[in-house]
Amino acid sequence: MDSGIGGLTIAKSIKSVLPSETLFYFGDTVHLPYGDKSPKAIIKYSNQIADFLFGSGCKLLVIACNSASVSAYDSLIKKWGNDKIINVIDPVVATAAEFNSQHVGVIGTKRTISSKVYFTKLTNAGVNKVSELATPLLANMIEEGFINNSISHALIENYITRPKLAGIDSLILACTHYPLISAEIASFLDKNVKILDSTIPVAQAVLDNLTARDLLSTEANNIADDKFWVSDLTSSFQKTARMFFGEEINNKKKVLK
Ligand code: DGL
Repeated sequence: MDSGIGGLTIAKSIKSVLPSETLFYFGDTVHLPYGDKSPKAIIKYSNQIADFLFGSGCKLLVIACNSASVSAYDSLIKKWGNDKIINVIDPVVATAAEFNSQHVGVIGTKRTISSKVYFTKLTNAGVNKVSELATPLLANMIEEGFINNSISHALIENYITRPKLAGIDSLILACTHYPLISAEIASFLDKNVKILDSTIPVAQAVLDNLTARDLLSTEANNIADDKFWVSDLTSSFQKTARMFFGEEINNKKKVLK
């Protein structure tokens, strides 16, 4: 589940690691962006989506949105149990700790950064210093197709060269959209700074979870079984979805009450 389209970067990664699994994706396009919403609203929307997806037969739910992961994970595991829910934060925090990162920068939406969830989890994982910066214009910029051009360069440079991020040894891309501009971000960082995003660590966590629960699919998945729902279907969404998922997808509209 995601607030909209960005979670397709996570879905794509899960699909490439686990091609035999059937994927159900829900993008809450009526309510996006989650990055500007209150925790209360995000908890409400996320619970509706989780009820719908588990009701549709999912064996595992990935909260493929940072803003929803920081706001709604606790509420969702209370209802469904923590073996059935994966957030996008814990796997990448574990990766930062494995790399022995000592000064980690985190960029994300206002909701993600103001929650301090990354700060808390990274500090608990033994990271010495965490520097967080809200970069709210980036998600919109990417959705509007401003990638690898003078506008994206100017905006990324403005954020990434802020004094707050000086001296970091790793940078966590704590927003679903940012893997698409990873190379541009890297161009404004010292070449020794590691860029960490959730896509591969989350796909690995899904594999580990299903293996541990003995729920890995044994039969090849029929691609037609994959389903993509959005709460509001627009033609621009369809177009942008291709950029995020890497292939054409057929969305269906689903209204949650
Ligand atoms: N999916 C959101 C996130 O990762 C970004 C877009 C939004 O604000 O809804 O935080």
